[in-house]
Amino acid sequence: QKLDIELAAIEKGGYDHFMLKEIFEQPQTIYDCLRGRLDAVAGTITMSGVQQYAEQIMQANRIIMVACGTSWHSGLVAEYIFEELCRINVEVEYASEFRYRNPVINKGDIIIAISQSGETADTLVAIETAKEKGAIILGVVNVVGSSIARISHAGAYTHAGPEIGVASTKAFTGQLAVLTMIALKVGYMKGTINEARYRQLLNELNEVPEKVAWVLNHHEHIKKIAEKYKDARDFLYLGRGYNFAVALEGALKLKEISYIHAEGYPAAEMKHGPIALVDENLPVVFIATRDAYHEKIVSNMQEIKARKGQVISVITEGDEHSASLSQDVMVIPEADEIVAPLLSVVPLQLLAYYIGVAKGLDVDKPRNLAKSVTVE
Ligand code: G6P
Repeated sequence: QKLDIELAAIEKGGYDHFMLKEIFEQPQTIYDCLRGRLDAVAGTITMSGVQQYAEQIMQANRIIMVACGTSWHSGLVAEYIFEELCRINVEVEYASEFRYRNPVINKGDIIIAISQSGETADTLVAIETAKEKGAIILGVVNVVGSSIARISHAGAYTHAGPEIGVASTKAFTGQLAVLTMIALKVGYMKGTINEARYRQLLNELNEVPEKVAWVLNHHEHIKKIAEKYKDARDFLYLGRGYNFAVALEGALKLKEISYIHAEGYPAAEMKHGPIALVDENLPVVFIATRDAYHEKIVSNMQEIKARKGQVISVITEGDEHSASLSQDVMVIPEADEIVAPLLSVVPLQLLAYYIGVAKGLDVDKPRNLAKSVTVE
């Protein structure tokens, strides 16, 4: 038994938990995902699986993302990115709903199946059915040789390495990196983004690993925030645009790890319900990095503050105005809005982790959850 314990400690590489190790691996895993594919100097993205179906993707009337859990959230971020860069209509589907409702699938539709494990039953069956109906299936999968990877026509691995913590972290950022590269490649080939914007975004993506490392360096500060709010009963997470799905993901991480009830919402939708919950006991986490939606989300922050909610925000470095509206802030470096989710999710992963630890919970194996859901 002593040997088992020592082995487990070695596997965790000096970290207290796999989840923390995996959060801290992200500069490396994102780098590994980009490496050999993205060449910012030459201005190329090499993805052979995507290349093989490039014509079909460019001509597609729509792309359907199919996934569950955290992977579904990366599909939501990708929806905004694909629509912006490729001007292709994107739908994002929960695999469980998609497979049972007799969806309209036309020959030539592109389905992107997103899965860390590559074994999630609902996702697997959903794409099997769609494949029979003539859809082209692209897999964005972490586990090499997994069922979803095998059944897909083509795809791109996320190269995040084994993810042991039940709550997905590095797989999520790997998915975002892959999906962003696909969108950039397709958008550039289609001519829906110009050379300058394409080049700029290649550089932005290239800088993400370094910037994630910068965010991780602030972990002690996030730990203090976690200790301050760990006894809250509920949390609300709000974001807009590219950060809307990051709000959902932040709330999911907190639920999974700390068992605190949390909801993620598009910030403007709060007026249609969640605002009724706001009082001095409710922490509201805003993902309010500097982007095209910034002014709008700042006014949402003011509305929460006016109702005495406790505003915690993820903001861009140097944004004094948003900081002045917040009780606590978590900072990310300046980044283009397209790549911002890769950065803004990291403090939320850490926040959930430290709250779970502060509550004395088993963060690597939260109750009732499974790493991969291979039964319905
Ligand atoms: C489970 C895991 C989640 C994961 C989801 C989808 O619920 O606990 O972390 O996001 O399944 O899994 P997949 O392997 O398909 O990404």
